Amino acid sequence: MLKIENLHAEVEGKAILKGINLEVKAGEVHAIMGPNGAGKSTLSSIIAGKEEYEVTSGSIELEGEDIDELAPEERAHAGVFLSFQYPVEIPGVTVTNFIKTAINESRKAKGLEEMPAKDMLKKIREKSELLEIDRKFLSRSLNEGFSGGEKKRNEIFQMAMLEPKLAILDETDSGLDIDALRIVSNGVNKLKSKDNAVIVITHYQRLLDYIVPDYVHVLHDGKIVKTGDASLALKLEEKGYDWIKEEVNS
Ligand SMILES: Nc1ncnc2c1ncn2[C@@H]1O[C@H](COP(=O)(O)OP(=O)(O)OP(=O)(O)O)[C@@H](O)[C@H]1O
Ligand SMILES: [Mg+2]
Repeated sequence: MLKIENLHAEVEGKAILKGINLEVKAGEVHAIMGPNGAGKSTLSSIIAGKEEYEVTSGSIELEGEDIDELAPEERAHAGVFLSFQYPVEIPGVTVTNFIKTAINESRKAKGLEEMPAKDMLKKIREKSELLEIDRKFLSRSLNEGFSGGEKKRNEIFQMAMLEPKLAILDETDSGLDIDALRIVSNGVNKLKSKDNAVIVITHYQRLLDYIVPDYVHVLHDGKIVKTGDASLALKLEEKGYDWIKEEVNS
């Protein structure tokens, strides 16, 4: 699904990623953890194709194709979904209209016709029920006045509607109350299949009780310094990042 080799990247001349290797296969869930400023959001932005970052060496392949030259929307159409750590507000555009447009744009890029209104409504109904989203919420302006938890839930709704091949969730758990955490995690688990993959970026082991990862990676100073299974997250919770730093330095 996703293969990253020796990825180096910088922003405004400052090196941020310093040789990332990561392979994510279909059907897998990977968690990325690591201290503030390690480069987690940068890595996800680069996978999604955000232009402020400059890839100085290395490669990113999606399903065997180099995506380095693709624009963010082309990557989205190819099946990459990135949730935002800080979502944007779009006054006057409702949650529903935003997602309708996104779906139809993606269909258009693939040479398909717009999704019939009936199918769209059915899909919206199904996914909003799955994620326990109130109907009234769907007609609100995108992210305008949304609480932290509402923003996160909206992201997962977008993901559920778009059915991406590769979903990257950047701190989707921060600011969620216990119930919302459970709903969002259940949503992710239900959407998981043998054909798609998920990367979750989180600071909290707690999320990984709900979304059990196949692999946990620790990103530190632009490099993946440790990879393990779900138990690595528990160990981090217990020992903190100093433990990793000591290991890296020894
Ligand atoms: N657009 C940018 N301009 C300048 N510096 C940037 C930019 N984006 C990222 N950086 C820097 O790159 C480093 C890595 O940032 P990044 O957001 O990837 O960290 P993170 O691991 O996601 O941290 P957090 O856990 O706090 O979200 C930081 O030092 C940050 O200041
Ligand atoms: Mg971040």
